[in-house]
Amino acid sequence: MMKPWFLLLGVLPCLTFAAEDGRQLVQMPLEARAEMRAEMLDFQSSLHQIVDALASGKSAEAADIAESKIGVSAMGRHRNAPPNARPGMHMPNDMHMIARNMHVAGSEFARTARAGDLTKALAALQPVMGACVACHRSYRTQ
Ligand code: HEC
Repeated sequence: MMKPWFLLLGVLPCLTFAAEDGRQLVQMPLEARAEMRAEMLDFQSSLHQIVDALASGKSAEAADIAESKIGVSAMGRHRNAPPNARPGMHMPNDMHMIARNMHVAGSEFARTARAGDLTKALAALQPVMGACVACHRSYRTQ
């Protein structure tokens, strides 16, 4: 039988590995970060509602939520805020591109979902969630 401390030896290198973070640090004013977090929580809730609507056979509802909360219609939420509270102004170009692509994918999903084919709708939701993952895996703010 393996001794418990052997298991610990196995775990330690994993812990040090986890402490290394290859993501790019993006420095943003605290106000911009607070705005971003509020927006992010809304995205997460919207995704949850979208999947719920799809699972209940309410594709049109899923489409409405996606367009208004994530799609192109949801762009420019910080347009009238001062520069220090506008996250987009502090994003590197590639990060900003992921954000824009997410909005476009949200609208594309909405169009697809409205057509009512669940499999196609799910496939169209994939690039939306892919943008969440791509950005979170590439960038950090702290
Ligand atoms: C362009 C980059 C980008 C995209 C796209 C993006 N996020 Fe984020 N997200 C961030 C950053 C940066 C933070 C950390 C903000 C901070 O605290 O400074 C964050 C934080 C969050 C948080 C934590 C909020 C909190 O209260 O701390 C959630 C939840 C989240 N994102 C969900 C999502 C979801 C869901 C999507 C896709 C629909 C998404 N994000 C798309 C960059 C992004």
